[in-house]
Amino acid sequence: MTDKPGRKLAMPRFSSGPCAKRPGWSLRALEDALVGRSHRASDAKARLVQVIDLSRELLGLPADWRLGIVPASDTGAFEMAMWSLLGARGVDVLAWESFGKGWVGDIVSQLKLDDVRKLEADYGTLPDLSQVLPERDVVFTWNGTTSGVRVPNGDWISDDREGLVLCDATSAVFAMDLPWDKLDVVTWSWQKVLGGEGQHGMLALSPRAVVRLQTYTPAWPLPKIFRLTKGGKLMEGIFKGETINTPSMLCVEDVLDALRWAKSLGGSVVLVARSEKNLARIAAWVAKTDWVEFLAADPAVRSPTSVCLKIVDPWFSGLDETAQRAFAKSIAAVLAREGVAFDIAAYRDAPPGLRIWAGATIETDDIDALLPWLDWAFAEACAAA
Ligand SMILES: Cc1ncc(COP(=O)(O)O)c(C=O)c1O
Repeated sequence: MTDKPGRKLAMPRFSSGPCAKRPGWSLRALEDALVGRSHRASDAKARLVQVIDLSRELLGLPADWRLGIVPASDTGAFEMAMWSLLGARGVDVLAWESFGKGWVGDIVSQLKLDDVRKLEADYGTLPDLSQVLPERDVVFTWNGTTSGVRVPNGDWISDDREGLVLCDATSAVFAMDLPWDKLDVVTWSWQKVLGGEGQHGMLALSPRAVVRLQTYTPAWPLPKIFRLTKGGKLMEGIFKGETINTPSMLCVEDVLDALRWAKSLGGSVVLVARSEKNLARIAAWVAKTDWVEFLAADPAVRSPTSVCLKIVDPWFSGLDETAQRAFAKSIAAVLAREGVAFDIAAYRDAPPGLRIWAGATIETDDIDALLPWLDWAFAEACAAA
């Protein structure tokens, strides 16, 4: 028998999106939100500009990059980039989990580009990054949220590339260092590492991406919500707080609160360190625990935000996939019932297992408190199976 842990968690929310709020967050953080005001009024627009400026500062975005707030969260930001920029040259698209595979689907089945190379890998691994060619555009996800596999760095991207590099960094940015000189388009949302609210996207563009926008017109029509140029010129207002459509001033206030919290801690360096520390605590537990392993076998590619674990107990390995999924869900259900961990079952398309968000808003103390509960819940689920 595994003893039931006595210690509850201060914050049991481990969802991979929306992710946990910063420690100490309450609705009071929104008290000064400019609700009911026009987002085009100067003081409201100033808040949108503040989101851009603080994000730039915390991420060390190069001065010549544009950063804008766009509709429809990370998906909106990434789709508008793909639909506006791709098709000018051949594209290499990398995928190793659900979201990356979604971008492959868009490129192949929706945009129907004719010169596409798919570089794919199974859950837990990366494709061969050395296959990427510098004369082609590249589309990839920095951190695969559903497999817990990230690229280890940007060394595989050429400094002399002719193509553009489009990177979906939504579960990486603020928790992993991004080499801006290797990237041309980077997108994210507010609800991941920052723990903000959903529905707003961030789109960062290198000068090379802007040149493409101004010199290339895709063969397909673009809805207003995706348009970044007008009459062949970049719509600069988007990068100065003039959003394409109406933002939520409540969400704006909330992400400002998160950005100010991040700044008060010491910026991205500290956010990265918090996530890495959380991963290290989980790794130490995995190393001494027989029934569990990382989905990512190679430590160099393990995500410190969306930590994905597989169950390796011999009894479990003997089950078929449906039974495995039901078992993993039963562990998550036991923990939710106890109020010690919510939303930690693996993503629906990923191999059955557990996924624990360990990004910067998660306190290491809560990770430490969670780990004995995982052992207990595994034992409980086995006893009930
Ligand atoms: C890697 C990745 N890309 C895209 C998305 C979709 O993001 P959103 O819901 O912000 O559009 C997610 C959401 O979890 C993600 O993890």
